[in-house]
Order: sequence, then C-alpha cells, then structure tokens
Amino acid sequence: MLPTDRPRRNRKSQVIRDMVQETRLTAHDFIFPLFVIEGQNQRLEVKSMPGIYRYSADTIIDEVGRCVELGIKAFAPFPSISDDKKDRLARESANRDGLYLQTVAAIKRQFPEVVVMTDVAMDPYSSDGHDGVVDVDSGEILNDATLEVLGQMALAQARAGADIIGPSDMMDGRVAWIRRVLDENAFQNVSIMSYTAKYASAFYGPFRDALDSAPKKGDKKSYQMNPANRREALRELALDEAEGADMVMVKPALSYLDVIREVKDHTHLPVTAYNVSGEYAMIKAAALNGWMDGERTMLEVLLSIKRAGADAILTYFAKEAAEALRRG
Ligand code: PBG
Repeated sequence: MLPTDRPRRNRKSQVIRDMVQETRLTAHDFIFPLFVIEGQNQRLEVKSMPGIYRYSADTIIDEVGRCVELGIKAFAPFPSISDDKKDRLARESANRDGLYLQTVAAIKRQFPEVVVMTDVAMDPYSSDGHDGVVDVDSGEILNDATLEVLGQMALAQARAGADIIGPSDMMDGRVAWIRRVLDENAFQNVSIMSYTAKYASAFYGPFRDALDSAPKKGDKKSYQMNPANRREALRELALDEAEGADMVMVKPALSYLDVIREVKDHTHLPVTAYNVSGEYAMIKAAALNGWMDGERTMLEVLLSIKRAGADAILTYFAKEAAEALRRG
C-alpha cells in the first residue's frame, strides 16, 4: 500500500516550507543581557562566554546603539561590582550614584525608546554572594528581611528609569511586595517581569564568573527550584499572577522547554524564557572547536524556545541572531 497522506508535499519547496512555517524569530523577540563594569573605555571579554563583553558605562552606550540599529530594543543590564562595595545587605544596590543605576539612567537618556529591564536580587552586591540576606549564625537565607532590601532596590531602579523590574531572587512574596512599593511611590506604570520558575541550575556558571557573584558558602537550593519539578512551576505561576506580575519567566530555557510549555498553557500573561549563560557557552565552545555549525545551532535553539511557548527570549545570542536574521 503506497501512502495517500504525504506530509512531504508541504516540504517540497522553500516557498511552501516558508508558507507553512509555524514559528518565526525576529529581533523583536530578544532581550539582550549586558554586563556593566566600573571604569572608562572598558570592553572585557567574559572568558567562558566568547563574544560577550563586560562594558563600562561609556562603551555600553555604543553597544546599545549598535544593537538598536539591528532592531534589538530591549536590554537587561547586570552589574559587576567590586568587592569593597559589597556588604551583607547589598546596600550598593540602592545607590543612585552607583555604577548600575547611573548606567541605566544613561541608557534611557541616550535611547529613550528602548526598554530597560533591571535585575532585582542581592547577589551582585552581596558579600555572601546570595540573592537574599544571610543569617549570620545559621547561614539561613532570610525571606522576609530580603523583601525589604528588594523593595528598596526596585524603587531605586524605577527612579533611575527602568521600564521593567525583573526580580530574579526567588524569595516568596516578592512580586506583591515590589508592586506595592512601586505603586506607593507613583510608579504604577513600571512593569514586573517575574523570574517565576527559576531553577537551581549548573547552567549559571559563566554568569557567576562574569559578575564574580558565586555564593561564598552553600548553594541556592533553598530558594531556586529543584530541576526535577514541573508542577511546582505552576504553583509559582499562580502566586506571581495573584501578586501582580505583568510577565512571567522560565529559566533556564533549554533543559526546561517542557516547563515553558506548561506555563504557557496555564496563563494568559506573556511568557519569557532565559537562554542562560551556560547554554550560550556550550554552543560557542562546540562551534569554536568546529564540532557544530554555531549559527545554525543558535537559530535552532532560539526557535525551539519560541516554539515551546516563549513570547520573548533573554539571550546572549541576541545581537548575533539579529545579524543572522538580517542576512536572511
Ligand atoms: C542571580 C542571577 C543569576 C542569573 C541571572 N540572575 C545567577 C544565579 O542565580 O546564580 C544567571 C543568568 C545566566 O546564567 O545567564 N540573581
């Protein structure tokens, strides 16, 4: 019996393949994470992330400009803070004259139309390298004491011009807390993109190198999620929705495509995914060794994240992918 049903007919030419293509990438999908360092005229490559640099406040403006020309309009800066500015309570995070908030303000001044999403978590400023306040005696990460710090951090970021606040800390109740602090200070129009399902992942390694933000003691498993759990993501989702999140995120992306789909099927909010540092490093390493076609792999991975249900993707590939898409 020869087949009468022949799916291959819909793959017979490039035009037909394009016509029936279900998912498409564009530069509008991307949010580009950027690393900010102190100093002037600095542009230092992150060792474990070839092609990704840490920029000082002046050179970052040029980089944002190049990205804007490529159609990338959303950025997520992260600060690399020197050790002498770190303390137990991450006080530097609310310093409006500090590196991070000055950089955010400078980007918004230079490019008012771009969206800047700021990161709320203590780790870049914490002498303990944790996302929350560490109890001196027990080493426990103190949820409610952390909320206070996160609220002040978010408020300072809103004042600096942040369009979206991105709490990446995984403390309980932080979305509601931040929403209240923002609203009480007349920042009703500042959005919250919650890191809803953020897993305790080995894929964050290169990011922690870039910011020198690894925990001094212990790990993040008492607040970040267990990679074994999927239903728990829906519990976090329900809470973030109830607490007022505007967008929700799954992180990492690649090993969690099932979670992205699950979250997408259970919410009317936009879903984003964070294609994290280790996912970038893996593909770069293989490509630089000549073991895989880096560009095709990058595009396939980004497409898979979108197909899984992500409306937008935080990715270190943003610029390279936008260039590749422009070439067609
Ligand atoms: C911490 C934070 C991390 C990342 C973003 N925010 C690392 C961590 O939780 O230790 C990782 C992003 C990446 O790996 O690209 N608040």
